[in-house]
Amino acid sequence: MDNGTNIYKPLRAKLTEVIDESPLIKTFVLVPEKKFMFKTGQFIELTVDGTGEAPFTPSSSPLVTDVLEVTVMKTGYVTTIMHDLKPGAYMGIRGPYGRGYPVDKFHDKEVLILGGGCGLAPIRSLLYALENIKGKLKRVILCYGSKTPADCIYKPLFNRLNKIDKFETYRTVDQADDEWNESVGVATRLLDNISVNIKESIAVVCGPPIMMKFGTLKLLEMGYKDEQIYLSMEKNMSCGLGKCGHCMMGKYFVCKDGPVFTYDEIKDQPNIWS
Ligand SMILES: Cc1cc2nc3c(=O)[nH]c(=O)nc-3n(C[C@H](O)[C@H](O)[C@H](O)COP(=O)(O)OP(=O)(O)OC[C@H]3O[C@@H](n4cnc5c(N)ncnc54)[C@H](O)[C@@H]3O)c2cc1C
Ligand code: FES
Repeated sequence: MDNGTNIYKPLRAKLTEVIDESPLIKTFVLVPEKKFMFKTGQFIELTVDGTGEAPFTPSSSPLVTDVLEVTVMKTGYVTTIMHDLKPGAYMGIRGPYGRGYPVDKFHDKEVLILGGGCGLAPIRSLLYALENIKGKLKRVILCYGSKTPADCIYKPLFNRLNKIDKFETYRTVDQADDEWNESVGVATRLLDNISVNIKESIAVVCGPPIMMKFGTLKLLEMGYKDEQIYLSMEKNMSCGLGKCGHCMMGKYFVCKDGPVFTYDEIKDQPNIWS
């Protein structure tokens, strides 16, 4: 998607709010100096002045162009400095880059979504897009796993989705506390209790590599075909433009050909889960 800007030049954006989602995850609410358009599942490079940039998939609605939300887990150098930013700071946005979710192909389907940890960020954006076309969908089932109840992000999202016709959500944690009254166990275990018409369904998986791998295997075991499974892949990235080669996964540039692929497209490429 073209925002009419120089692809190398970050668009300035003002940080207006920082939302604590979990001890390690924050959502940054940004107001770009110009409208910013993206397709759900595409990613951006987000810059902290004087520090560096890192790739993130917007977690906000692709229908909203004047505010962009990015949900960031603190993992290293750039993300730690991001987590210290306060409202009023300016950041830079490059992109959007890559290929997002082909939501047109989800029409008339039961959409089964498996998310883990911070992988719910791109999925939240997808859910907004699906909500917008819910008349064209049969059903949307969200299965989400996190380590503990405190690590469970977007708590209000689940309450809201459960009130929307055709949407249903299920959550699980690896380790419960006294107040948790939902499932306990790894995210893939939620799929054991889901009944879907697989012929009329597609599945979306986004989360840590281990969950992507076992989630995909579980979906195949349930009867999904390789081409019915959509995966959002994360590889080390630098340019985001298919030029530097940092993100190579076999024959693919994840930044340009992905980050969303069907399992069918990537299953024969090396090291897809690492
Ligand atoms: C297309 C794409 C979309 C992404 N979307 C999001 C998102 O919405 N929210 C989010 O929190 N993160 C997302 N990531 C991951 C994010 O880019 C990394 O966490 C970030 O680059 C780490 O930067 P850093 O400088 O803080 O860490 P570094 O100092 O570079 O690394 C610190 C540690 O984090 C690990 N690390 C670095 N990059 C990744 C990665 N891509 N995945 C997992 N571990 C990594 C390193 O191996 C190292 O152990 C996405 C990555 C890609 C490629
Ligand atoms: S990040 Fe440079 S080629 Fe993909």
